Amino acid sequence: MTTKTLKDLFIHSLSDIYSAEKQMTKSLPKMALASTNLGLRAAFEKHLEETQGQIERIDEVVEATGIKLKRVKCVAMEGLVEECQEQIDEIEKGPVLDTALIAAAQKVEHYEIAAYGSLIALAKQLGETAAVNLLGETLKEEKATDEKLSLLAEEKVAAEALGK
Ligand SMILES: [Fe+2]
Repeated sequence: MTTKTLKDLFIHSLSDIYSAEKQMTKSLPKMALASTNLGLRAAFEKHLEETQGQIERIDEVVEATGIKLKRVKCVAMEGLVEECQEQIDEIEKGPVLDTALIAAAQKVEHYEIAAYGSLIALAKQLGETAAVNLLGETLKEEKATDEKLSLLAEEKVAAEALGK
Protein backbone atom coordinates (compact mmCIF):
# COMPACT_ATOMS: atom_id res chain seq x y z
CA MET A 1 0.00 0.00 0.00
CA THR A 2 1.78 3.08 -1.18
CA THR A 3 -1.17 5.49 -1.09
CA LYS A 4 -1.57 6.67 2.52
CA THR A 5 -1.97 10.43 2.54
CA LEU A 6 -3.97 12.97 0.52
CA LYS A 7 -0.71 13.91 -1.17
CA ASP A 8 -0.18 10.28 -2.22
CA LEU A 9 -3.72 10.26 -3.57
CA PHE A 10 -3.06 13.48 -5.49
CA ILE A 11 0.08 11.96 -7.03
CA HIS A 12 -1.76 8.78 -7.97
CA SER A 13 -4.73 10.66 -9.46
CA LEU A 14 -2.47 13.00 -11.42
CA SER A 15 -0.47 10.05 -12.76
CA ASP A 16 -3.73 8.38 -13.77
CA ILE A 17 -5.05 11.39 -15.73
CA TYR A 18 -1.61 11.79 -17.32
CA SER A 19 -1.95 8.27 -18.69
CA ALA A 20 -5.54 9.01 -19.76
CA GLU A 21 -4.52 12.12 -21.70
CA LYS A 22 -1.64 10.25 -23.38
CA GLN A 23 -4.08 7.57 -24.49
CA MET A 24 -6.37 10.24 -25.93
CA THR A 25 -3.55 11.68 -28.06
CA LYS A 26 -3.53 8.31 -29.84
CA SER A 27 -7.29 7.89 -29.98
CA LEU A 28 -8.37 11.39 -31.12
CA PRO A 29 -6.65 11.21 -34.54
CA LYS A 30 -8.51 7.94 -35.18
CA MET A 31 -11.79 9.54 -34.13
CA ALA A 32 -11.13 12.51 -36.43
CA LEU A 33 -10.39 10.18 -39.35
CA ALA A 34 -13.55 8.17 -38.69
CA SER A 35 -15.80 11.28 -38.64
CA THR A 36 -17.74 12.32 -41.71
CA ASN A 37 -19.20 15.58 -40.38
CA LEU A 38 -16.55 18.26 -40.93
CA GLY A 39 -17.48 20.19 -37.79
CA LEU A 40 -17.05 17.05 -35.73
CA ARG A 41 -13.73 16.24 -37.37
CA ALA A 42 -12.53 19.79 -36.64
CA ALA A 43 -13.67 19.46 -33.02
CA PHE A 44 -11.62 16.28 -32.57
CA GLU A 45 -8.59 17.87 -34.22
CA LYS A 46 -8.86 20.94 -32.01
CA HIS A 47 -9.22 18.79 -28.91
CA LEU A 48 -6.12 16.83 -29.90
CA GLU A 49 -4.14 20.08 -29.81
CA GLU A 50 -5.72 20.99 -26.48
CA THR A 51 -4.91 17.55 -25.10
CA GLN A 52 -1.24 18.03 -25.96
CA GLY A 53 -1.37 21.32 -24.05
CA GLN A 54 -3.08 19.56 -21.14
CA ILE A 55 -0.22 17.06 -20.94
CA GLU A 56 2.26 19.97 -20.82
CA ARG A 57 0.14 21.52 -18.08
CA ILE A 58 0.43 18.33 -16.02
CA ASP A 59 4.21 18.62 -16.44
CA GLU A 60 3.91 22.17 -15.09
CA VAL A 61 1.91 20.91 -12.10
CA VAL A 62 4.64 18.35 -11.43
CA GLU A 63 7.24 21.12 -11.49
CA ALA A 64 5.20 23.50 -9.34
CA THR A 65 4.48 20.88 -6.66
CA GLY A 66 7.83 19.08 -6.79
CA ILE A 67 6.15 15.66 -6.99
CA LYS A 68 7.16 12.67 -9.11
CA LEU A 69 4.54 10.98 -11.29
CA LYS A 70 4.06 7.22 -11.03
CA ARG A 71 3.92 4.80 -13.90
CA VAL A 72 0.25 3.87 -13.91
CA LYS A 73 -2.11 3.02 -16.72
CA CYS A 74 -5.56 4.55 -16.63
CA VAL A 75 -7.64 1.43 -17.19
CA ALA A 76 -10.87 3.44 -17.22
CA MET A 77 -9.67 5.38 -20.25
CA GLU A 78 -8.37 2.19 -21.80
CA GLY A 79 -11.91 0.79 -21.63
CA LEU A 80 -13.50 3.95 -23.04
CA VAL A 81 -11.01 4.00 -25.91
CA GLU A 82 -11.63 0.32 -26.60
CA GLU A 83 -15.40 0.83 -26.76
CA CYS A 84 -14.91 3.75 -29.11
CA GLN A 85 -12.72 1.60 -31.37
CA GLU A 86 -15.40 -1.11 -31.42
CA GLN A 87 -17.89 1.45 -32.74
CA ILE A 88 -15.43 2.56 -35.43
CA ASP A 89 -14.96 -1.08 -36.48
CA GLU A 90 -18.64 -1.99 -36.41
CA ILE A 91 -20.46 1.04 -37.86
CA GLU A 92 -20.17 2.19 -41.43
CA LYS A 93 -18.74 5.71 -41.84
CA GLY A 94 -21.50 8.34 -41.86
CA PRO A 95 -23.93 10.19 -39.59
CA VAL A 96 -24.72 7.19 -37.38
CA LEU A 97 -21.03 6.56 -36.66
CA ASP A 98 -20.62 10.32 -36.09
CA THR A 99 -23.37 10.14 -33.47
CA ALA A 100 -21.66 7.16 -31.82
CA LEU A 101 -18.32 9.01 -31.83
CA ILE A 102 -19.89 12.01 -30.12
CA ALA A 103 -21.30 9.75 -27.40
CA ALA A 104 -17.93 8.02 -26.96
CA ALA A 105 -16.11 11.37 -26.78
CA GLN A 106 -18.59 12.73 -24.24
CA LYS A 107 -18.03 9.70 -22.01
CA VAL A 108 -14.32 10.52 -22.13
CA GLU A 109 -14.97 14.20 -21.35
CA HIS A 110 -17.20 13.36 -18.41
CA TYR A 111 -14.55 11.04 -17.00
CA GLU A 112 -11.94 13.77 -17.38
CA ILE A 113 -14.22 16.44 -15.88
CA ALA A 114 -14.72 14.23 -12.80
CA ALA A 115 -10.99 13.48 -12.59
CA TYR A 116 -9.90 17.13 -12.85
CA GLY A 117 -12.63 18.27 -10.45
CA SER A 118 -11.37 15.83 -7.81
CA LEU A 119 -7.75 16.79 -8.47
CA ILE A 120 -8.57 20.47 -7.99
CA ALA A 121 -10.31 19.71 -4.70
CA LEU A 122 -7.26 17.73 -3.55
CA ALA A 123 -4.85 20.47 -4.66
CA LYS A 124 -6.91 23.01 -2.68
CA GLN A 125 -6.74 20.84 0.43
CA LEU A 126 -3.00 20.54 -0.01
CA GLY A 127 -2.60 24.30 -0.47
CA GLU A 128 -1.13 23.90 -3.95
CA THR A 129 -2.44 27.10 -5.51
CA ALA A 130 -0.45 26.88 -8.75
CA ALA A 131 -1.79 23.37 -9.33
CA VAL A 132 -5.36 24.55 -8.64
CA ASN A 133 -5.01 27.24 -11.32
CA LEU A 134 -3.34 25.03 -13.92
CA LEU A 135 -5.80 22.17 -13.48
CA GLY A 136 -8.65 24.70 -13.53
CA GLU A 137 -7.63 25.81 -17.02
CA THR A 138 -7.76 22.24 -18.25
CA LEU A 139 -11.13 21.65 -16.57
CA LYS A 140 -12.51 24.66 -18.46
CA GLU A 141 -11.31 23.21 -21.77
CA GLU A 142 -12.85 19.80 -21.04
CA LYS A 143 -16.19 21.42 -20.18
CA ALA A 144 -16.11 23.55 -23.32
CA THR A 145 -15.39 20.47 -25.43
CA ASP A 146 -18.26 18.61 -23.82
CA GLU A 147 -20.64 21.48 -24.54
CA LYS A 148 -19.47 21.73 -28.13
CA LEU A 149 -20.08 18.01 -28.59
CA SER A 150 -23.59 18.36 -27.14
CA LEU A 151 -24.34 21.13 -29.63
CA LEU A 152 -23.03 19.06 -32.53
CA ALA A 153 -25.14 16.11 -31.41
CA GLU A 154 -28.27 18.22 -31.19
CA GLU A 155 -27.79 20.11 -34.41
CA LYS A 156 -26.06 18.92 -37.54
CA VAL A 157 -25.09 15.39 -36.79
CA ALA A 158 -28.49 14.40 -35.42
CA ALA A 159 -30.22 15.90 -38.44
CA GLU A 160 -27.89 14.01 -40.77
CA ALA A 161 -28.42 10.77 -38.86
CA LEU A 162 -32.18 11.17 -39.29
CA GLY A 163 -31.66 11.80 -42.99
CA LYS A 164 -32.85 15.43 -42.89
FE1 LIG B 1 -8.18 16.11 -21.62
